[in-house]
Formats: sequence, structure tokens, C-alpha cells
Amino acid sequence: MATLIDGKRISQEIKDELKEKAASLKAEGKEACLAVILVGEDPASKVYVGNKKKACEYIGIRSESYELPESTSQAELLELIERLNADAKVNGILVQLPVPKHIDEKAVIRSISPAKDVDGFHPENVGALLIGEKGFVSCTPAGVIELLKRSGISIEGKECVVIGRSNIVGKPMGVLLLRENGTVTICHSRTQDLKNVCKRADILVAAVGKPKMINREYIKEGAVVIDVGIHRMENGKLCGDVDFDDVEDMVSAITPVPGGVGPMTIAMLMKNCMESVEES
Ligand code: GUN
Repeated sequence: MATLIDGKRISQEIKDELKEKAASLKAEGKEACLAVILVGEDPASKVYVGNKKKACEYIGIRSESYELPESTSQAELLELIERLNADAKVNGILVQLPVPKHIDEKAVIRSISPAKDVDGFHPENVGALLIGEKGFVSCTPAGVIELLKRSGISIEGKECVVIGRSNIVGKPMGVLLLRENGTVTICHSRTQDLKNVCKRADILVAAVGKPKMINREYIKEGAVVIDVGIHRMENGKLCGDVDFDDVEDMVSAITPVPGGVGPMTIAMLMKNCMESVEES
């Protein structure tokens, strides 16, 4: 029987720990504050931003919300970020991605002070991760590591295969697994014989962005499978990159979708916000 890795429960545990920390920091007169910027009307982004604000409220992190129209210029957005960079009361700045097409996402990410970049997207933080220095780490891959650790799954010496090489998930995921002494392979759309490469994995992290693509043909008996994907199917239900029903009987542990990696992303964002105020 596969163990279900319960991201909902583990993320709640983390949020409760952070809530206690927030209360003790408040007693010292320190309050975390996250500025959340949303440009445009993307419905999925609105839901994500709403969930981030709710998590802040639960923990006791103040959130400042900037909901800007689609027509906002890049200069206007950068000006707001500059203002927030200079505001000592703001510890974290998050610009929900994607931004509208007329805005250069890379320029936006670079404009956020690395010390307030709680998403861990700034090149300085990405570079720090690569060379093992202190810095903010991208929340989804950090959440995957936390899920594994809190589920008692050891990474050291294991064959870890990551499918996907995005800047936000795949690449930092590979580096984090390496940092935990895993033996890491990062696969992508040009990988030859993807199924057999995935079959090597003791720990398989799927971040491909294709609904239910990863079936039992990609999986070694007894592997741990972490599903980063989230997709809305035609019947309205959510599914991941992994065909859960197809693989469940052959894995040792697996994350469900929803309720696996998703809630961990927000928990790790909150953790980064708390670290930011502790450093301040
Ligand atoms: N859009 C999708 N995921 C994320 C995330 O983790 N952070 C931000 N800022 N935007 C996103």
C-alpha cells in the first residue's frame, strides 16, 4: 500500500509553527509584512493571491495588497517596487506571475530587492542556492524537500529524477536534491528514452505541465513520486502530471493532487516571509 504524502496536513503543521513564531516576534515588536502585487485580471492568479493573503492572516503576517489594472506600464510597476524596496515596514515583495505581455518579467524580478524576494526568483538568490550560500529559495521546490523530510523519506544517496527544467521548479529542485546528497538527473522535452531514465528514480519529481502524462511505464516499483503539476480536467476535477490511479499500487509513497505539493508552496512562502523579518 502506498503512503499518501499529505501536503495539506504538513503545510498546516508548518503554518502553525510559523504562527507561534509570529506571535513571539510580535512580542519583541517585530511584525512581518508581505506586499503582494497583482497586475491584471487573470482568474487563476486572483485565486493564488487570495490564498496567499489568507495564509498571511492565519499566521499573523500583515499583507499589503496592490491590485493594478492590466494597463499598468512597466515603469509604473517598477516605481511601486522601488517604493516597497525602500519601505522598512515591508519585509517581502511578491509580484504574482505571469505579468501582462507588455511587461518584461525578468526586469520585474530583478527590480525586487534580493533581501525582500520571498519568491526566491531574483538571480542573486538563484545564484546563492547554486553555490550553497544563504538566500531565499523558490517555494515549490523548497516545499517538496520539506514534504520528503517531514515524511521521513531520506534523499541522501538516492537516484532522484526531476522531469522539467523551469527556473521556478525544475532547476532549483535539482539543486536542492543535490544539496541533500541525492544523485540527480534533470529531464526535459528533449531527453531521449525518458521512460527509462524515469524508471531509474528512487524519488521522481514530476513538473512537466502535462496532465496525467506520467503513468506506470515511467516508474520503478517502490519509488517515491512527487507530483508538482496541477490541471483542471474537463469534468471540473483537478489532476496532476502523474496518472495517480495508474501508479498508486506500485509506488511506496505519492503526493495527491490536490492536497500534495500545492499547499506546501504557500507554507514555504510564509516561512520565507518570517525569515525575512527575523533577518531585518
Ligand atoms: N505564479 C505561479 N506560481 C507563482 C509563484 O510561486 N510566485 C509568483 N510570484 N507567481 C507565481
